[in-house]
Amino acid sequence: GRPVYLDCDTGIDDSMAIAYLMAHPGVDLVGVGTVFGNIDAHRAARNTLDLLALGGHDHVPVAVGAEKLLAGAWPGGAAHVHGDNGIGGVDLPHCGREPVSSAADLLIRLAHEHEGDLRVLAIGPLTNLARAVDREPALPSLVESVVVMGGAAKSPGNVTPVAEANIFNDPQAAARVLDAGWPLTLVPLDLTLENTLEESDRAVLLGAAQPVPRAVGAMLDVYFSFYTGTYGRRCAALHDPLAAAIAAGGVTPTLAPAVQIVVDETDGPGRGQTICDLRGERVGYPAQPTARNRLVLEISAPFAPHLMEVLTS
Ligand code: BDR
Ligand code: CA
Repeated sequence: GRPVYLDCDTGIDDSMAIAYLMAHPGVDLVGVGTVFGNIDAHRAARNTLDLLALGGHDHVPVAVGAEKLLAGAWPGGAAHVHGDNGIGGVDLPHCGREPVSSAADLLIRLAHEHEGDLRVLAIGPLTNLARAVDREPALPSLVESVVVMGGAAKSPGNVTPVAEANIFNDPQAAARVLDAGWPLTLVPLDLTLENTLEESDRAVLLGAAQPVPRAVGAMLDVYFSFYTGTYGRRCAALHDPLAAAIAAGGVTPTLAPAVQIVVDETDGPGRGQTICDLRGERVGYPAQPTARNRLVLEISAPFAPHLMEVLTS
């Protein structure tokens, strides 16, 4: 499989992404770094270690990363979305393994070890990636690709009218990462909100033979309750697993134009907005030759069936 470094704030949909990466035959998960976000970075590492162990992946190194923003205190998590422990109150068996330190160092080491091959997948705030680029300026040229779940192009935000959580939680870090010059693909809310998992899928997960899909099915109870407010039915958006599938090559974007993306780094109402220049040439201005980041706006088929197939395989 292709070597993948995952950076996450585990999290219920992060857990789904981890489950997907463990189950996908094309993926070799070579390391995981955790960051504050849905939960604090230490608890995210605990959740990650226990889930990896449940899936027979207890060889994968897990490193604790940033506990707070590049400039600012930890905003306090999202217990109303992911539960008090980040994984919907589910009590995973404790594996006893401890995380190492630090996520940025782990990423840098893996990028050198797998030079030209490493796929970086970030599904939490981008603080660890920003720190890693600061510590190792050659990093962008060492990795094969970077896929980020974050931002909103035309869609409203989720934490504010304009901002998505992963970008809002550390706009300075996001700006640093989007400007780093690596082959970066952004998977925004526009796409992830369109792809949902339903109660019928959750029932299949709960009845699965393997412990990981069963645990994920149990976590989703809390997540489905939160998303009832968004969709008017019990279901959930597939943010992080969709980014994981794109990084793994299990899902291919049909529309991912190179666009200029600017992050609002102010503390005003625009904080964390990803301003995506989607004007193209229709307004008569010349195309922007400097745009390097790709924005995934479309995939060829609904994602949930593929996710279910991989999770229960
Ligand atoms: C993103 O924020 C986190 O709550 C989720 O895990 C996902 O990465 C969605 O905005
Ligand atoms: Ca996440």
